[in-house]
Amino acid sequence: HQRVFSGVQPTGNLHLGNYLGAIRRFVALQDHYECIYCVVDMHAITIWQDPAELTRSIREVTAAFIASGIDPKRHIVFNQSQVHEHAELAWVFNCVARIGWMNRMTQFKEKAGKDRENASLGLYAYPSLMAADILVYRATHVPVGEDQKQHLELARDIAQKFNNDYGPSIAAHGHGEGFFPLPEPLIQGPAPRVMSLRDGTKKMSKSDPSDYSRLTFADDADTIAQKIRKAKTDPEPLPTEVEGLAGRPEAENLVVIYAALADTTREKVLAEFGGAQFSSFKGALADLAVSRLGPIGAEMKRLQGDPAYIDGVLRDGADRARAIAAPVMTAVKDIVGFVR
Ligand code: TYM
Repeated sequence: HQRVFSGVQPTGNLHLGNYLGAIRRFVALQDHYECIYCVVDMHAITIWQDPAELTRSIREVTAAFIASGIDPKRHIVFNQSQVHEHAELAWVFNCVARIGWMNRMTQFKEKAGKDRENASLGLYAYPSLMAADILVYRATHVPVGEDQKQHLELARDIAQKFNNDYGPSIAAHGHGEGFFPLPEPLIQGPAPRVMSLRDGTKKMSKSDPSDYSRLTFADDADTIAQKIRKAKTDPEPLPTEVEGLAGRPEAENLVVIYAALADTTREKVLAEFGGAQFSSFKGALADLAVSRLGPIGAEMKRLQGDPAYIDGVLRDGADRARAIAAPVMTAVKDIVGFVR
């Protein structure tokens, strides 16, 4: 049985990277898989969040899912904290995963910064909760951007170690050998790693202090045009061949973004714009970005004006998610040897 699971943190500043690397891929997978898309609010608080802002952000990500084309009737959309099985399984996984595994996580090192002693314990255990998110549904496929690759590998390691550590008990309870499937990352599409508009060597992120580093759904047409106009470039015109983008990270990033938004290839973009100055290319890119992001932003705004509807979607999604997660968690309790 094939099932897709993925999550997005409600931490504000939802950006073009989240859209091209993840949300747009979520939409495309709906025709081929049973999909579960989660607003991971418990992950968000691994770094302190203003409570009112967190609430707003949970509804914003939900609105982004729906406005982008995810159908919450055919698939499941919910927020993590409403399904307590995530936290329960995460605890079991905390006891399966090794400290040495966590120490290798580059995202923890980046987010914790220099003052690692002062990072939350939750930030350290973050990948274990992420493994639980996926495996509590026994999901087989996980669409993510390139930056989540290491976390997905860890989820596979946890699944495998659980299957091994509890092998005899899994069999004794009548489950197949691979109780947890090893989830496969789907890191595909033309833009698995969208870079900052200010620095082509850094990924576009929610936490970059510069608003000019990212395009967000909240940006109006003028803001989008201005951010693209100010995007860093180099003095050369655009190359005519893809090879000409080597060593020009900012140029490459803008071409990748254009290709992704236009649903075409970098080759075709360069066939059209090769030899052109950035000023004219940026104008075309701004028009394209406005035409693709504008309608989604407007629909998000409309949906966010009706929080009762959004909260209803999340509650309904949580009920249906729980119906899948609860029997898996019950089986885990039996396998581990807990008395119910
Ligand atoms: P988060 O909230 O940081 O990002 C959500 C999704 O957006 C992708 N993404 C990008 N893709 C391309 N270019 C970028 N610059 C870019 N920035 C972000 C991310 O790869 C992600 O797919 N740990 C996850 C959330 C999570 C999760 C899960 C994902 C929690 N549990 C279970 C999958 C399965 C995260 O922080 O994503």
